[in-house]
Amino acid sequence: MSHKLLSGFAIGFLFVLGWMTAAQAVTLEVEEGNSTCIKAEISANFTITYPISNGTKTVVVPLPGSAVLGNGSSCGGAGVSPDLVASFGEGHSLGLVFASDNLIYRVANLTLSYNLSDTKTFPQSSSKEIMVLTSNTSQISAKLNTTYKCVSSSSVNLGSSVTVTLFDIHLQAYMPSSNLSTNETVCSADLPSTTAAPTTTPVAPTTPAVPTKPEPGNYNVTNSNGTVCLLAKMGLQLNATFLSQNKTIVSIRNVQPNVMSFSGTCESTTATLQLTGDFTNLTFTFTLNSTSKMYQLSAVNMSAKWEDMTAVFIASNSSLQYLQGTLGRSYMCSVEEVLPVVSTFSINTFDVQVQPFNVSNNKFGPADVCRMQKDNMLVPIIVGASLAGLVLIVLIAYLIGRKRSHAGYQTI
Ligand SMILES: *[C@@H]1O[C@H](CO)[C@@H](O)[C@H](O)[C@H]1NC(C)=O
Ligand SMILES: *[C@@H]1O[C@H](CO)[C@@H](O)[C@H](O)[C@H]1NC(C)=O
Ligand SMILES: *[C@@H]1O[C@H](CO)[C@@H](O)[C@H](O)[C@H]1NC(C)=O
Ligand SMILES: *[C@@H]1O[C@H](CO)[C@@H](O)[C@H](O)[C@H]1NC(C)=O
Ligand SMILES: *[C@@H]1O[C@H](CO)[C@@H](O)[C@H](O)[C@H]1NC(C)=O
Ligand SMILES: *[C@@H]1O[C@H](CO)[C@@H](O)[C@H](O)[C@H]1NC(C)=O
Ligand SMILES: *[C@@H]1O[C@H](CO)[C@@H](O)[C@H](O)[C@H]1NC(C)=O
Ligand SMILES: *[C@@H]1O[C@H](CO)[C@@H](O)[C@H](O)[C@H]1NC(C)=O
Ligand SMILES: *[C@@H]1O[C@H](CO)[C@@H](O)[C@H](O)[C@H]1NC(C)=O
Ligand SMILES: *[C@@H]1O[C@H](CO)[C@@H](O)[C@H](O)[C@H]1NC(C)=O
Ligand SMILES: *[C@@H]1O[C@H](CO)[C@@H](O)[C@H](O)[C@H]1NC(C)=O
Ligand SMILES: *[C@@H]1O[C@H](CO)[C@@H](O)[C@H](O)[C@H]1NC(C)=O
Repeated sequence: MSHKLLSGFAIGFLFVLGWMTAAQAVTLEVEEGNSTCIKAEISANFTITYPISNGTKTVVVPLPGSAVLGNGSSCGGAGVSPDLVASFGEGHSLGLVFASDNLIYRVANLTLSYNLSDTKTFPQSSSKEIMVLTSNTSQISAKLNTTYKCVSSSSVNLGSSVTVTLFDIHLQAYMPSSNLSTNETVCSADLPSTTAAPTTTPVAPTTPAVPTKPEPGNYNVTNSNGTVCLLAKMGLQLNATFLSQNKTIVSIRNVQPNVMSFSGTCESTTATLQLTGDFTNLTFTFTLNSTSKMYQLSAVNMSAKWEDMTAVFIASNSSLQYLQGTLGRSYMCSVEEVLPVVSTFSINTFDVQVQPFNVSNNKFGPADVCRMQKDNMLVPIIVGASLAGLVLIVLIAYLIGRKRSHAGYQTI
């Protein structure tokens, strides 16, 4: 009998251990007929604050290795989005709803549902409710037909009481075959950081709406004869204001270079750069004034269909005068610039270097540095010069004073 009890204990203990210890990778597959449409290996931690009789309590619940494919999982179709539901413990689940624009796919909605009457997970909970919280701000997006890979952890806040931390993710949706693609889209957090110091983009769990500095992308346009005719390196952040169900929404979105495809054209006095992907089409038109030998960004056309946008959002302006540079040189600006396009749409640029005309040897020409950056350099110069001036004045005053007092002594 003691044997039975012991093994029962052991099994119970292992069971509890399996679901209470650190998160384990969970592998799930959504199939329809004989074909797989979503395959995902996910690790996650849920930080949940719940009410107890005299206040609140916070627990960290890992997604257990025992999670299984739950109800609601589907490959989608006819107006229904593909959905992966990982069901675990006593009535808890994590759901990922996908969306695609034929170039990229991404997690459109992330939903956590948890059952507060599970007192093993939520000790002393004073509520018996089943909570369902959704967020549409997950960072997961990848090129279609590639596997999304992210070892680094990223956090999504679902309201103020729940944070979902995802890590060690390997997934693909809209799969053309049953095997994960060997082509990968690696999340930017996993990429070796280039010039940007890693300290500039900490995960800020309490302020999900403030986007981090965008990753700079290299967008090079090549001529029909194979020579690079437009060079652009820039980090872009899009700021759109629109109405959704009678509410004004300001949506700020970073352009993620790894999920954008780009192309363009080069003519003698006009060059264009088109970026497409992540539910966004963006066209930059540069023109050259052959009299003054100056070029500028003179038009921006943008169309987008982001979450909350009830219709396609369109913004365009063809009389802009931004990013002005001299023919044969590049325009460079390492400070943030705000480029208003229309009243409801502006582009924030970071670490820009562009050269839309006369590129030679695939390299940027000498740089025309933007005014703001020059001003930034000017401030220390002015301060330095004023300080030097002040020191000089004090010195002169001192010398004069000394001479006077010497003179005074002599008269006594
Ligand atoms: C997940 O939670 C476990 C247990 O609390 C912790 O040891 C681990 O560091 C967490 N991992 C991440 C990435 O937050
Ligand atoms: C699945 O595969 C089996 C055997 O290969 C086949 O008989 C069946 O018709 C297939 N089902 C669907 C829905 O394609
Ligand atoms: C709530 O009650 C528990 C046990 O009675 C106690 O340990 C805890 O400190 C109390 N918390 C607050 C916020 O009063
Ligand atoms: C993805 O693969 C499918 C099937 O191989 C193909 O039809 C489609 O064009 C591909 N899409 C992209 C964006 O590569
Ligand atoms: C995401 O959730 C919101 C609100 O729950 C819903 O309106 C929207 O349709 C969902 N998006 C997708 C792609 O399911
Ligand atoms: C990976 O991408 C390359 C180039 O886009 C393509 O030729 C190849 O077929 C892709 N491989 C897979 C397994 O999708
Ligand atoms: C490539 O074509 C452009 C015009 O389209 C021309 O100016 C340039 O000289 C050509 N370069 C080469 C290497 O043929
Ligand atoms: C976005 O645009 C709005 C409206 O022009 C402006 O108030 C807001 O400061 C902008 N935010 C950012 C981060 O650019
Ligand atoms: C938006 O406002 C109009 C007029 O005030 C009202 O008729 C309509 O029902 C509102 N729509 C929504 C979705 O709230
Ligand atoms: C080109 O520059 C010249 C000299 O600065 C100016 O007079 C002319 O208006 C400009 N042309 C265009 C089309 O902007
Ligand atoms: C972007 O352009 C493509 C091709 O013209 C079009 O199919 C797509 O609907 C556009 N997307 C948006 C969000 O405007
Ligand atoms: C674009 O050109 C720059 C400068 O020559 C180079 O560093 C970069 O790798 C190029 N990027 C692509 C995607 O070709």
